[in-house]
Amino acid sequence: MDTVVSGIRSTGNLHLGNYFGALQNFLKMQNENNCFFFIADYHSLTTHPKPDDLHGNIRQVLAEYLACGIDPEIATVFIQSDVPEVTELYLLLNMNAYVGELERTTSFKEKIRSQPDNINAGLLTYPVLMAADIIIHKAHKVPVGKDQEQHLEMTRRFARRFNTMYGVDYFPEPDAYNFGRKLMKIPGLDGSGKMGKSEGNGIFLADSPEEIRKKVMRAVTDAGPSSPGEKPSEPVQNLFTIMKVVSDTATVKYFMEKHASCEIRYGEMKKQLAEDIIRVTDPIRERINEILANKKYLAKVVKEGGEKARVSASKTVRDVREIIGYRSF
Ligand code: TRP
Repeated sequence: MDTVVSGIRSTGNLHLGNYFGALQNFLKMQNENNCFFFIADYHSLTTHPKPDDLHGNIRQVLAEYLACGIDPEIATVFIQSDVPEVTELYLLLNMNAYVGELERTTSFKEKIRSQPDNINAGLLTYPVLMAADIIIHKAHKVPVGKDQEQHLEMTRRFARRFNTMYGVDYFPEPDAYNFGRKLMKIPGLDGSGKMGKSEGNGIFLADSPEEIRKKVMRAVTDAGPSSPGEKPSEPVQNLFTIMKVVSDTATVKYFMEKHASCEIRYGEMKKQLAEDIIRVTDPIRERINEILANKKYLAKVVKEGGEKARVSASKTVRDVREIIGYRSF
């Protein structure tokens, strides 16, 4: 069985796009592998969150993943900062990570552009910490999106470099997890492109029904079809795409026909779409709130997950120390 490691940003609140896309793959993945899922809350310090916000975000994101079916009875679910062994491996890996290669990382260069006032060393060494997260459990596979491919490539390089440097075959070089099927892509509400957090075009699972209605009613459309049978424009097609996921076929058909005959009223379509999104997400919202209210359960999940992760992590750190030459007297 493969070991899989995946980190979740502590600000990575789930939106519809994640829910119908990557998350469904995660649920499948946890049943077929030895999975380590953790909230990457050391990484989030690069943005200098306030303590209450940091803690609140961690709880919220954890509750969302649990509500959606990440199962702590099957996978090891934990908080990164509950496993301090990762910081030791990070320090050790940093000695063999070159400033030049770190400076050339795309995500780092992007940060220099987007937040020139806060280019901290944590950002520079972000890929090293991520590598430590992964190889500390000797992972074989890591599910990565496009934006994380280079980080995984660096993880492979750091693992290989360690093996070569010490003449050992200790760390496996982790591969990208191949789901073998296309992700469902949910478009955003802003007319083009897919739903994303940073795009500000998303509906989050934790959004209240009121927020959902507001967001959908504000979604971009067009001036309406000008001749019968005209193909919907991209923004309108995007609403149809979401509708196909959350509404029943008769509803989709009704609005498609209205569009084809130039009788469509986007306001009516959006009202229906909002109600269908609310209906589909209601049980999840309820579950998220239930979990958030159940402090005992959350505490138990992170305690047990953290303990399991530490068993695997501390074994690796012990081995690595020995390999490097830290020996007992
Ligand atoms: N860098 C990842 C992201 O921004 C989060 C992450 C941290 C991660 N450590 C990881 C992902 C280890 C996979 C494995 O999404």
